[in-house]
Amino acid sequence: MGAKKPALKWGKWFMNSSLHKIAVLGTGYVGLTTGTCLAHLGHQVVCVDNDLKKLEMLDSGILPIFENGLPELVRELKLTGRLTFTSNMMEAISAAEFVFLCLPTPQGHDGFADLSAITSVVKQISGKLLPNTIVVNKSTVPVNSAFLVRDLLNDSRVHVVSNPEFLREGSAVNDFLNPDRIVIGSENQIAGERVAGLYLGIRSPVVVTDPVSAESIKYMANAFLALKISFVNQAASFCDAVGADVLEVMRGLSFDPRIGGTFLTPGPGWGGSCFPKDTEALVAMAKSVDRPMSLVEEAIVANQNHINAVAKLIRSEAKATGVSNPRIALLGLSFKAETDDTRCSPAIDIIKNLQSEFENLIVFDPLAITPIELEINRAKTQEEAMKGADVTAILTEWSAFKRLEPSSVRSLMRGNVIIDTRYLLESEQFSRHNLHVVQIGRK
Ligand code: UDX
Repeated sequence: MGAKKPALKWGKWFMNSSLHKIAVLGTGYVGLTTGTCLAHLGHQVVCVDNDLKKLEMLDSGILPIFENGLPELVRELKLTGRLTFTSNMMEAISAAEFVFLCLPTPQGHDGFADLSAITSVVKQISGKLLPNTIVVNKSTVPVNSAFLVRDLLNDSRVHVVSNPEFLREGSAVNDFLNPDRIVIGSENQIAGERVAGLYLGIRSPVVVTDPVSAESIKYMANAFLALKISFVNQAASFCDAVGADVLEVMRGLSFDPRIGGTFLTPGPGWGGSCFPKDTEALVAMAKSVDRPMSLVEEAIVANQNHINAVAKLIRSEAKATGVSNPRIALLGLSFKAETDDTRCSPAIDIIKNLQSEFENLIVFDPLAITPIELEINRAKTQEEAMKGADVTAILTEWSAFKRLEPSSVRSLMRGNVIIDTRYLLESEQFSRHNLHVVQIGRK
C-alpha cells in the first residue's frame, strides 16, 4: 500500500458553509491580505496588531505595505463594516469562531524559524477562546507547529488547523482569490472541513491532509521553487560559457509539462522574505532529523554564488571602461518587480559588494525605499540615475526598465554598457545605438 495520498476534494464543503466571525492576528503581508480577502468572501473579520502606528495608517486608509489591489479592497470592506482593525486582541478573539495566526516567523540564528511571536500570542489567548474555536496556522511555520500550538492552548474544546499561505508578493490578492490549491492540515476532520468552508466561492482543489504534511507542503514548495531558480541561473552561466542562448534553452525546456513553463527566467538570484528563510528553515529541520536535504543546501549556496558572480561582472565591466572613478547606475532595489520589499533582495547584496570597490554609485527604484544601511545616492528618476553613467545595471524587472528607449539611454549615459540581469532589453536595438547589453547566457 503506497503512502497515504492527500485527499483531493473540492466544492463538497462549500455548499454547507455560511459566513463566520474571524480574528486575524498580525497585519503584515500575509495577515492583511488574508483578513481582507476573507472579508471580501463575506466573513466578518477583525485584524489585530500591536503596532499602533500601523493601525493608525490602516484606519486612515493608508496601507503599510504595497500590494496590488489591496488598498481598494481594504477601503471598500472597511466601509461595509466587514473589516475592522484593533489593537485589542482579547476583545477580537472573544467573539471569534476562527483565529488566524499571521504572525512573523523570521529566520532564527540557527536557521530554524523563530516562533517567539507565535508562542507569546498563543500563551496570551490560551483559555480565552470560545468553545469550538478553530486556531488556524496561516504563516509559514516549522513542521509540528500545529501540535506545538495545540499543546500551548491546552484546551480540548479548541482545534488547531494548518492552512499555509501560497501568496506571492505583488500578486497576493490574486493568489488568495485564485489559488492553485488550498491546503488543509487537521487531526480533526470536522475542524478541517470548517476551515475549508471559509473559502466559500473560491473554486480550487483542496488538499486535505494531516498537519505535519500540510506544513511540509509549504516548505517543500518554496524549496523546490528556489531550487528551480538556482538551476536556471546556473544554466545561464553554463550557456554563457558555451555560447548557447539561455532564454532559448529555457523555452525548449518549457514545453515539457514535467518541467513546466513558468519560473524559468534567469535573474540576479532569488531573494525576498520567504525563499531565503524557508530554505534555511527546511535545511535546519532536515538536519535535526538526520535527513539532510543537500539539494536545498546547494540551492542556497548556488544562489549566493550567482549573486556574487553578477556583482563581479558589474565590477569587471566598470573597470573595463578605463574610467578612474566610474559612475555606476543601478536600476532596481526590490527583490522583484511589483513590490516595495527589499528584504534579502539580491540588488542590495550586489550594491554592498560594489561599494567595497566603487564609490560613484547611484540607485533608482520606482517604489522601494533605500535601506538606511546602504548610504547610497538615490536618483528621483531612472533618467537621472543613468545621466553620465559609465555602466548601468538593471537588477529588478520593473516594466519601466523594459521600456527603456535606446536613443534616450544613449543620450544620457557616458559609457555604453548595460548589464541586464533581468533579460528585459532587446540587445540588437541597443547595439544600433552603440550600447552593449550584457545578459548572462546570451550572445
Ligand atoms: C514565494 C512563493 O512563490 C509563494 O508561493 C510563497 O507563498 C512566498 O514565497 P515571493 O517570495 O513573493 O513568493 O516571490 P516569487 O515571485 O516566488 O519570486 C521569488 C524569487 O525568485 C524572486 O527573487 C524572483 O525575482 C525570483 N524569480 C522568480 C526568478 O529569478 N525567476 C523567475 O522566473 C521567478
